[in-house]
Amino acid sequence: MKIAVTGKGGVGKTTLSSTLSCIFAKHYKVFAIDADPDMNLASSLGIHDKITPISKMNDLIRDRTGAEPGSSFGEVFKINPKISDLPEALSIDYGPNGNLKLLVMGTVDKGGDGCICPASVLLKAILRHMILKKDELIILDMEAGIEHLGRKTAESVNMMIVVVEPGLKSLETAQRIKKLAGDIGVLNIKAVINKVSSSYEEEFVQEKLEEIGIETLGSIPRDESVIKSDMEGKSLNHYKESVALKSVQKIAKKILESDID
Ligand SMILES: Nc1ncnc2c1ncn2[C@@H]1O[C@H](COP(=O)(O)OP(=O)(O)O)[C@@H](O)[C@H]1O
Ligand SMILES: [Mg+2]
Repeated sequence: MKIAVTGKGGVGKTTLSSTLSCIFAKHYKVFAIDADPDMNLASSLGIHDKITPISKMNDLIRDRTGAEPGSSFGEVFKINPKISDLPEALSIDYGPNGNLKLLVMGTVDKGGDGCICPASVLLKAILRHMILKKDELIILDMEAGIEHLGRKTAESVNMMIVVVEPGLKSLETAQRIKKLAGDIGVLNIKAVINKVSSSYEEEFVQEKLEEIGIETLGSIPRDESVIKSDMEGKSLNHYKESVALKSVQKIAKKILESDID
């Protein structure tokens, strides 16, 4: 299963991605991919070492795509670079039994029409051609801009989760994402409502999501332990009493139960 997490900046994409990754890693092999230029999935997992993102691995990019790093328009690319060994070779082991692997893409330029950057070519190739075994899954932490995924890549994503919070701004972003997702062929789009402080807030967002036409997977309360985990530099999964963690566990269960091929 390939799951992409998207939404407006600051809504909780990285928190959700890292927490889900740790939960799934108990039973599955998880590839957590940081595709947000902000690059803080590692930190959210409790990894604070300096990591070289794939977009800065110039030799690798040159080798696999045939293009000079940093070049874009007009370059000749290998559109389908060999990647099968990359997820294993480049990822950082984390979690119980090395079940969780982290890949940091770095800045993946979106560019204009017809402009593709090598890192973006690699990310797309990884998403498209990574053959997942039955007990493996990918969690992709990405920004709100999803259009650079392109149709073929988007089609390989089984579920796109849009994170929203109480407020119109993140809902407007969700609406834009839904439109983009439709344009590039992502069919299964679901919402997670984060940072909820009251039933009024939850109902407010829920109603708006229904208007937009996005089904909700679940909601996560605003929770001090999320802030504490960020201050202490540990993953939320260490805070067993966290109400946010419990909500994410429910969401994880729902994702696994959802019938997607
Ligand atoms: N449920 C929550 N309760 C309290 N704070 C939260 C919650 N979810 C996220 N945050 C905080 O909001 C900020 C943004 O979260 P983050 O996951 O980095 O968002 P994004 O990846 O969408 O930019 C972080 O400081 C995080 O600790
Ligand atoms: Mg983030």
